[in-house]
Amino acid sequence: MRRRGSLKWDRYDPSVLPCWVAEMDFDMAEPVRRAVADLSAAGAFQYPLRGGRPPDRLVADAFAERMERRYGWPVDPDCTLVVTDLVQAIYAAVTAFTRKGEGVAVQLPAYPPFRAAVEDTGRHAVAWPADPGPGGYGWDLGRLSQDSRPAAKLLILCNPHNPTGRMLSRTELAALADHVVRNDLIVVADEIHADIVYDGRAHIPFASLGPEVARRTVTLHSATKSFGIPGLRCAVMHFGSRALLERFTAVLHPRLLGQSSIAGIEATLAAWRDGQEWFDAVLAHLQGMRDYVRAVLRAEMPEIGLHPPQATYLAWLDCSAMGLDRPAGEFFLHHAKVAFSAGETFDPQASQFIRMNFATSKPLIDEILDRMRQAMRSR
Ligand SMILES: Cc1ncc(COP(=O)(O)O)c(C=O)c1O
Repeated sequence: MRRRGSLKWDRYDPSVLPCWVAEMDFDMAEPVRRAVADLSAAGAFQYPLRGGRPPDRLVADAFAERMERRYGWPVDPDCTLVVTDLVQAIYAAVTAFTRKGEGVAVQLPAYPPFRAAVEDTGRHAVAWPADPGPGGYGWDLGRLSQDSRPAAKLLILCNPHNPTGRMLSRTELAALADHVVRNDLIVVADEIHADIVYDGRAHIPFASLGPEVARRTVTLHSATKSFGIPGLRCAVMHFGSRALLERFTAVLHPRLLGQSSIAGIEATLAAWRDGQEWFDAVLAHLQGMRDYVRAVLRAEMPEIGLHPPQATYLAWLDCSAMGLDRPAGEFFLHHAKVAFSAGETFDPQASQFIRMNFATSKPLIDEILDRMRQAMRSR
């Protein structure tokens, strides 16, 4: 892993085991590896064209076909822009659909680039905090509709949710849809984790809730999280109506979003077309690791709270019962030599939380849990 040169494995010195940034430690799906290797073997790195069309159109078609097949959600490929990555798409959408000083609602805890996208572009983050309940974290609409100054014009919705792993139910999504229509909000729906769902659950694309919802929703998706290829840079930005797309391109020309490379495009097509068998095996392993981590924490480290994630390979661990005198991420980095994502990067109030990435092998999970156990004992 260290030889690959990745953000996850190279950020800390070799004595530290990393389980922070959302990268998976598995080998690539063979069809994806072959797609990239074939391009290289053929030296096919000119300006690409496929059947007389720019190849990103094939990604738009494949996305539409996939959404229809998996969710019965009809998608117009002509309302889809293929961009390089989701964080770029979030900055772009916030810039195009709001003005400086306006409010952008963000669920808390939040994947850190969401708040960065709002603050870096001079917008105002309107926090929509989660409440823990018996079924996991939830977001009370009452907390979103409180009159914020400035009022939110746009909502960044992360579903499935990073870092809590919560999937909103159809009832919750319908109530939210009703709220956004009544308050005339634009929704940027980040659904990058849509494939990684457990216990036979089914993801529901927010824009599929109806035409009134679709026409105000930008859906963000890619194959990069599910197939472990974020370095290949290829993502989809789907606008739920032509008018919404035109509103966006009137402010930001798509050229400014760059273009995905042919390697990212071919890898995405191969993943969606031929990667299901690989993905099913990975998902089964991830579900097993989720259950294993939960069982070990419950039995041996009960001071650490966890609502088991319904989706994503991320676990949001509540260490507040440990009574630490410093942020939990810092404690485990120094005393266990394990690098988690620090809770305070998701919410300034969450310094007693850490986010664990369990997309790794069982021996590494065991080593991580072992180091945690020892650090807690020697406290
Ligand atoms: C919710 C969410 N959105 C976006 C991203 C990053 O996507 P990209 O690499 O395409 O910018 C991540 C990565 O972990 C994520 O969890």
